[in-house]
Order: sequence, then structure tokens, then C-alpha cells
Amino acid sequence: MYDQEAAVTSVTAEDYRLPTTVTPDRYEIRLQPDLESYTFAGEETIAITVHQPVNEIVLNAIELEIDRAVVERAGRKLTASGIELDSANERARLRFADTLEAGPWRLTITFRGILNDKLHGFYRSQYQDSSGQTHRVAATQFEATDARRAFPCWDEPALKASFKVSLVIDDKLTAISNTALESERRVGNDRKELNFKETIRMSTYLVAIVVGEFEATDAVDVDGTPLRVVHVPGKRALTSWGRDIGAFSLKFFADYYGVRYPGDKLDLIAIPDFASGAMENLGAITFRETALLVDEKTASRSELERVADVVSHENAHMWFGDLVTMKWWNGLWLNEAFATFMEMLAVDAWKPQWQRWVSFSVSRASAMAIDALHSTRPIEYTVRAASEAGGMFDILTYEKGAAVLRMLEQYLGADEFRKGIALYLRKHQYANAETTDLWDALEESSGQPVRKLMDSWIFQPGFPVVSVKPASNGRGLILSQRRFTYLPHDQPNEQRWHVPIIVKVRTEHGTSTHKLLLDGPETTLEIPERVEWGLANQGGHGFYRTRYAPELLSSLTSALSELAPVERFSLVSDTWAAVVAGLTPLAEFLKMVRLFRDETDLNVWRALLAGFNYLEMIIDDGVRPGLQARVRELLAPAAARLGWSPQRDENELQSQLRALVLATLGTLGADRECWDRAREMYANYRGDPASVDRNLVPALISILASSGGEAEYREFKDNFKAARTPQEEQRYLFSLANFRHPELLRATMEMTLSGEVRTQNAPYLLHSLLYNTVCRERAWGFLKHNWDKMIERYPENSIPRMCEGVVALATLEHEVREFFAKHKVKQGGKTIDQHLERLRVAVAFRNREGADFEINLGD
Ligand code: BES
Ligand code: ZN
Repeated sequence: MYDQEAAVTSVTAEDYRLPTTVTPDRYEIRLQPDLESYTFAGEETIAITVHQPVNEIVLNAIELEIDRAVVERAGRKLTASGIELDSANERARLRFADTLEAGPWRLTITFRGILNDKLHGFYRSQYQDSSGQTHRVAATQFEATDARRAFPCWDEPALKASFKVSLVIDDKLTAISNTALESERRVGNDRKELNFKETIRMSTYLVAIVVGEFEATDAVDVDGTPLRVVHVPGKRALTSWGRDIGAFSLKFFADYYGVRYPGDKLDLIAIPDFASGAMENLGAITFRETALLVDEKTASRSELERVADVVSHENAHMWFGDLVTMKWWNGLWLNEAFATFMEMLAVDAWKPQWQRWVSFSVSRASAMAIDALHSTRPIEYTVRAASEAGGMFDILTYEKGAAVLRMLEQYLGADEFRKGIALYLRKHQYANAETTDLWDALEESSGQPVRKLMDSWIFQPGFPVVSVKPASNGRGLILSQRRFTYLPHDQPNEQRWHVPIIVKVRTEHGTSTHKLLLDGPETTLEIPERVEWGLANQGGHGFYRTRYAPELLSSLTSALSELAPVERFSLVSDTWAAVVAGLTPLAEFLKMVRLFRDETDLNVWRALLAGFNYLEMIIDDGVRPGLQARVRELLAPAAARLGWSPQRDENELQSQLRALVLATLGTLGADRECWDRAREMYANYRGDPASVDRNLVPALISILASSGGEAEYREFKDNFKAARTPQEEQRYLFSLANFRHPELLRATMEMTLSGEVRTQNAPYLLHSLLYNTVCRERAWGFLKHNWDKMIERYPENSIPRMCEGVVALATLEHEVREFFAKHKVKQGGKTIDQHLERLRVAVAFRNREGADFEINLGD
């Protein structure tokens, strides 16, 4: 078992960073994967620079056998006399009997490896065609530190080099890499060698190789770049949506950045087994199938949006990440927060009617939910050993990072911001950068003190709550800040942020907007007239929570119709957060919720229902009927208004809202009438898929699962196996975790280890089971009992995510805590601590409100 503590304290700089005495300039890599034996043979010649005389070369390698290593330069040739593999540090040490003098050399290494089944490095994947025959695929996933599993290399982001890849493969197969094909030749009877063009200078983690029976769409020309969607045979019909957003966002980014796309072609490749959502390999972006292939005609809005988001995100990386790369993993936010921010910008430009920035509020709120823990971390956070890099791919890097960028963009103005970004990219292209370089560029182009403002958000953990009260003369508002946490502080917290605030104020003369920067504990906004109400986060872009003095809050809630949806969202979401923190009684939230019965905005409803979902998770079974009744009462007017079928001229947000309201009514609300109606509608849908609004279908499936028995279970399981699209497969698979009969849930649990479910999905299925109130204790028992098997089988990066399910185990807090004290999770970073603290927050909530639940819910 991996012991984080020990690993951290025993490493020294030497152990976790490669020596810089020798660095690579260009790799020529030739690989021969064998899909029958799941092995590969390789040879590489690396043009290196020796910076000072050395007797050894140290580079990264793991799970590779190195047969031979030779260095050469004009007239000199030395064969390594010793090749030592240090698997603990994932390195190879090549020793030479003679000294290599400084200067350019060529290093040739011959090696062998395996196509593993862990979805990292060079790995295998498989799928069945419509006749049931199995086909094999080999693919790579190198970020963060797994290029070293495919070829010995200097596997650190700052050691950029160019790559020239050749593949020897079976004649009948296709292969794709980062660049276009340069030449092809036959090898023996039934094999061919594909030579790809040389890449730009880039980091090792961006190299990609995919081999199998792939098909590609015709290329679309995006200002000179050919863009294709690549997939296993039979999926051509699912490619148009991904290709369209792919082409749109590629052009959007080239325009926005004012920098040409850095590759010579772009393939978007769907891989049947894939550990994360997608990966930004330059020119050869890889995806899990659900994130790229979708049937435009039948998928729901959120399924389509998911594909748009992911494609746009990865395309944004072609510049942010690939052309300019963080120096080291502590700066990962420069890749991921930017890609997430840019993803929203492009999707918003593509489909303005989706109001993507408004729905981003949901992600911002989820990021705040983690950042309100004491176990949070700053966005930029020390990473010593490369093995700690995996822990950085979390909601703080992505969503908090993107949210604070949005806040800055709104503060500087969109165009000023864009100019700074363009400058940063031009200055650091083909190279690496740090956070300070970004501030330099933004300050240079905007003339604003960006560093002072942003350092408080990037290098400090947590975020503030901004409290608002009326000035004593009634003419103005007093704003103050302090850190917001769910559990109380042990010591007084003096942290402060530079908070850009946009205040919307209502007086008898109308509304006005005021921009200010709160950089101390308190400031006063003077208004010459008496303030009727004031809202301290206009547009909802700020990464902070607000708290209003009672008189301000009540005037705000009586002016709901004057607030924008995103502002109503913040009001509800901030109030709920205050309840979780114990600052506001639950009863007050429940009272507020009543004012929203006629609410028409999808995202505001998401905020309202977030509170009820949380309650559902922590209450005792005895109180459940009370909660269900309250949910039914809350949703009744909206359900009646929206009905079960689309109304004429309604927009898609409304259709999504219908799905949300009805799904909640049928699951959380356990509404019998809703069940019957859903069953009827579902039967219609099976008869004629076009007869039901596409957004409603996932809702029907979840209602039928949560109210259904064995017959539905069997049908859904069959549907999962016979699914026509990745989305359908996913809907039915995950529905199997939403049934409410223990025996059926037991069967789903078994599936997570049975081989019927891909390891890319199984951990998330278990995650859902941990959230199911009927079986969560049993799912926890199952997880503990099978822990070693899961660690052995599942992709490493999915383990901390799977474990998030434990936050629903409020009744088992001690047991959970004990378990994780004994079982350290690799790649966990701080996430396991965060899960445990969330559990503690839930327990504190129960203890605080416990006895009152019944009264509060029943009143
Ligand atoms: N660079 C990541 C892929 C990745 C994730 C590599 C984790 C190593 C560890 C990629 O750009 C990414 O962020 N993918 C997301 C989807 C995206 C739309 C947020 C993912 O895989 O979840
Ligand atoms: Zn990313």
C-alpha cells in the first residue's frame, strides 16, 4: 500500500526531479505494438544535449525492459555498461564506462513493454461489434506522468522536445498520432510502417498513439486545418455534433488568442475505454465515447452540452497547455482553469441560448462547497514528487480556477483580459510559464494591478463571505469580509482577499450599479439616498458568498422579480451555504424556498433543490415521508404549470426545467401519480421514441428506476447492453444504481467487479450506490471488502472520485475515518481529507438540526 506521509517526507529534490545535466531536444520513436500478446517493442533515438561532463544519464521509465542503450557523437560511440531500473522512482539510470563530454549527442535505446489494462501509459482497450465479435485497440494516456510507461523519456512538462513517431502495425489496422502521416511502407507480409511528421516542441505528456480498426469522418477544413472525428466502426452517425463544436471552437480560439492553431491537423478520437473524460494531446485529442459521440436527434440537452463542453475544453488546451505549458505541476491551473474558462466562452458563443455562464454558477457553487472546508487548498499548491500531480486535477483547479478567471475578466473588461492572454501566449509559445508570467502579461497590457488582486485568490485557500448591512444613516451599505467555512475556526482567521464587487442598489430613484474593490476588512459604499435594497454580487461572477442583515434580506426577497436569474441563484445558494455552516437555521431556508414556488428559471431551481437533496442524504428514514411531502408541496405548482409535454414556443431551458421538476417529484418526492404517468410515458417512448420530449427521457428512466421492481430492472439492464448510443448506455447503466430494492441493488453492486461494466465506469457506479439511501451501508461494506480488488482493477485516478460517495455515510463517520486512516489512497491529494471533512459537516448539521428535522419539515 502506498503511504503518502512516508513518501512525502522521504523525498529530496534529487528524488523527485530529474537531473538537468542532460536534456532532450528531439525524439525519434519507433514502436511495434502487438495486439495479440498485448506487448510492444520499441526503439528510440533521442537528440540530447549534455550540459556538463557526465558518466550517467538518468531519465524516466517504468514497467519497461531496457535491452540496450548507446550514445554517439561524431566519431564516438559508447554502449551503456549498466542499465539500472529504479521502479520506486520510475527511472532508468544508464551508466557509461567513459565520460560523455558536454555537447550534442544521440542516445539510442531499445526497449520492450506491455499494453496494460489500467488505462494509462500505453494500454489496451476492446469493444464488440454488432455481431458480438471482440476487437482490440491500443491507445495512450500520458498525463500526468505515464509517457514513461511507453518509452524512456524526460517525463517532465518543462523538458519540451519535438517528437517523430513511427509505428509498425498490422496491415489491416489504422494508427493515429499527433501529426499527419508523412510516409508509409510495407514491412514483411502483413505489416506496415507508418511515419508521422515531426511535432512542434512540446511536453512528453502530450504524445499520443492510437492503433485499431478506426474509421474517420471526412475532414472539415478549419482555416487550413483538417479536422476529423475518429471512432470504431459503426458509429459514423454519432459524429456530427462533436465535429461541429470542434470546428467552431477551433476557429473561435484562433481568433480569440490571435495565434494560429499550433498543429498540422486535428483528430478527435473516441476510445472505447478511457480513464478520464478526454485528453488534449496536440492534434490527436482522445475522448471516452460519451464525451464525443452523440446522436444529435435523440440526446438530451445536457448530454449534448457535455460533448460541447468537453470538445471545447480540449480544443482550448491546444494553446493553453500544449503551446504554452506550466513549468511544473503546481501550476496546473494555468492549463486546466484556463481550458475550463475558455470552454465556457466558446460554448456560450456557439449557443448563447444555453446561457452557459448562468449554469456555470452551479459549478462555482460546487467549488465553493469544497473551498469552504478547512481541508481545502490554494489553487496553486506545492507539488514535489510527480506522483502528487494526480491530486491536482480537482474542482479547485478546474472550477474555482475558472471562476476566479471569470471574476478577473469581468473586472478588467473582456477585451483587456483577452489582450493580456494573447500577449502571454505569444511571449511563452513553445515554452513553459508560471503564474507570475501571466500576471506580467495582464499587467503589461491592462495597466492594472492584477498581481495584487489575483495572488489573494490563487495562493490562499478558501474564499470570503461578504456581509452587507445598512449604513447607520440609511444612506449606503457597509460591506465586510471574512473567510467562509462550514466548520468553525479554531483560531481567529485574519485572511483577506482583494474582492472585486459589483453592487446593485435600489433607491426610490431606481437602480444603480457600483464597482468597488474590498481589500481590507470593511468598506462603506455611500449612496446619497435611502437604500431600499442592495445586492452585493451583481451578475454572480464573484467567487464569494454574501450575507445580508435581516432587514436587507427581507427587502431583497420581496423584490425577487427585479433580480436576474443568476442573482436569485446566488441568493438561494448563499442562504443554503449559511445553513450548512450553521449561521442560518434550516427553518429560514425552508421559509425562503416558499417564495420561489413560481420560479421559472432552471438554475434557480437547481439551487433550491440542492438543499433538499442534501437533506435527503442526511435525514433518518423516519423523517423521509415528511421530506417527501414537502418536496411534493414545493414542486406541485411548477409541475402543474409545465405539464408533461412541450408547450408551443417554449425554449429549451424550460424543457430542461420540466425534466428536473418531474424527475425530482418522482424520486425525492416519491409522488405516486408521477410514477404512473412516467410509466405510461415511458411505454409510449419505447413504442415511438419521437413521441416524448428528448429532455424528459432521462427523467422517465430515473423515475422508473426509483419506483420500479424486478421487471424494470431486467429491462433496463438489457437496454444497457443493447444501447445504440454511448448516452443511452450510460443512462441505463447508472439507472441500475437508483432502484430501491436491496436485492436489485446487490446485483448492481456485483456488476462493479464482474467485467460486465467497463472499469472506466465501474467506480462511478459504486459511487452512485454509496449515495443511494437504501443501500449505502451495504455499498460501503462492499467497498471495504473488495478494496484491494478495486485498487488493482480500476484506473488510479478514479479511486478518489469513487470514494466521494462516503460523504453520504453520516451514520458511519467513525468507521469511514478509521478505514481511510489505514488505507491511504494514491493520487488522493487532499480529496480524501475533504470527503472526511464533508462527512463531519453533515454530522454537525444533523446534531444541530437533528431533533428539529421533524418539526421543521412538518410545519
Ligand atoms: N488534461 C485533462 C485530462 C486529464 C485529467 C489528465 C486527469 C490526467 C488526469 C483534460 O483536459 C480534462 O480536463 N478532461 C476533463 C474533462 C473536461 C471537460 C473538464 C476530464 O477528463 O474530466
Ligand atoms: Zn483540461
